[in-house]
Amino acid sequence: MTYSISILPGDGIGVEVIDATRPLLDDAAHAGGFELETTRYDWGSERYLESESMMPDDAIETLETYDAILLGAVGHPDIPDHVTLRGMMLPIRKAFDQQVCKRPSVLFDGVESPLRGYDGGDIDFVLYRENTEGEYADAGGHEHRGYPHEVAVQTAVYTRQGTETIVRAAFEAARSREGRLTNVTKSNAQAHGMVFWDEIVEEVSSDYPDVTVERLLVDAASMDLVRRPDEFDVLVASNLFGDILTDIGAIVSGSMGMAPSANINVEGHSPSMFEPVHGSAPDIAGRGIANPLATVLSVSMLFDHLGESEVARDIWRAVESQLADADAPRTPDLGGSATTEAVVEDIRTRL
Ligand code: NAI
Ligand code: MG
Repeated sequence: MTYSISILPGDGIGVEVIDATRPLLDDAAHAGGFELETTRYDWGSERYLESESMMPDDAIETLETYDAILLGAVGHPDIPDHVTLRGMMLPIRKAFDQQVCKRPSVLFDGVESPLRGYDGGDIDFVLYRENTEGEYADAGGHEHRGYPHEVAVQTAVYTRQGTETIVRAAFEAARSREGRLTNVTKSNAQAHGMVFWDEIVEEVSSDYPDVTVERLLVDAASMDLVRRPDEFDVLVASNLFGDILTDIGAIVSGSMGMAPSANINVEGHSPSMFEPVHGSAPDIAGRGIANPLATVLSVSMLFDHLGESEVARDIWRAVESQLADADAPRTPDLGGSATTEAVVEDIRTRL
């Protein structure tokens, strides 16, 4: 069996965590008895600064041929974020219909939460974020620039197909976990799109009588992810809300540097993309101290998606074993002083 994987390191610490994690892919292939063909594409902000485009014109056609995509992060202090994001990440998610974004938040043994009173394993939930429409739809306009009547309109878009896809994925996940789903919306203030979303959750729930559904408004959900993170199992949310809530999920379970994510094409006709939740972190870029574990765990999710569940589990367990080991190297975000590379080297010895 041969899998082809395109690797997009991107910018800042994205490049550092991807470069460090790269050898782990070969270790995994070796352990799992399959072949990997990987190609690295140095697209991103440096390219933009030279040629005013983040990716070449045929980037989507190029990526289409791969079984999966591994991405670092994009974002550069000298380029507006909407340019980088809309020049690389959003077009990939949309072109490949990666409608389902799956983001686990796990407090591992040996990791300290900034919240008091939680031990390893106490926090363990997964958020399903709608990934190609909602508040991140490219719908709107900006007119009369510079005049007193200047106006900007940004419209959120919720389709039945897109909403149902993410909601079903979340129900399926809940069914395979503890059977509890929290639906996060803001239907009191957004009576069109969000009420529509709630209606779809209600409809789909009839196919999952074994799943208990809790409803939270996003402001209360933000509070509850801090107040009672241990009580969540699966959450489902729109694109923007899911984006925000998963940063909370990342930090309550220890660090932005440990949160992985999968952008999944449910029908399998195009590649899915795996990436850490974090960005390019210009504040620590270039120092070799970024935590690579979010990327390592994303690699685990990548192999799981390809059907190599044993290898996926081994990588996940290697991370668990490292974090539970007080003598193992840790990056500064986890209170240690190890480098990005040292952490991955240690993971490799645990596979
Ligand atoms: P960020 O996630 O890059 O950083 C937030 C904070 O978490 C920073 O203090 C950073 O040092 C820390 N952090 C993040 N990843 C870490 C890691 N692996 N190890 C240790 N500490 C880590 O978010 P920020 O600062 O809002 O955005 C920076 C740039 O990244 C912006 O250009 C933004 O647009 C972009 N961005 C890109 C994303 C992506 O490519 N998926 C996601 C989020 C932001
Ligand atoms: Mg985000």
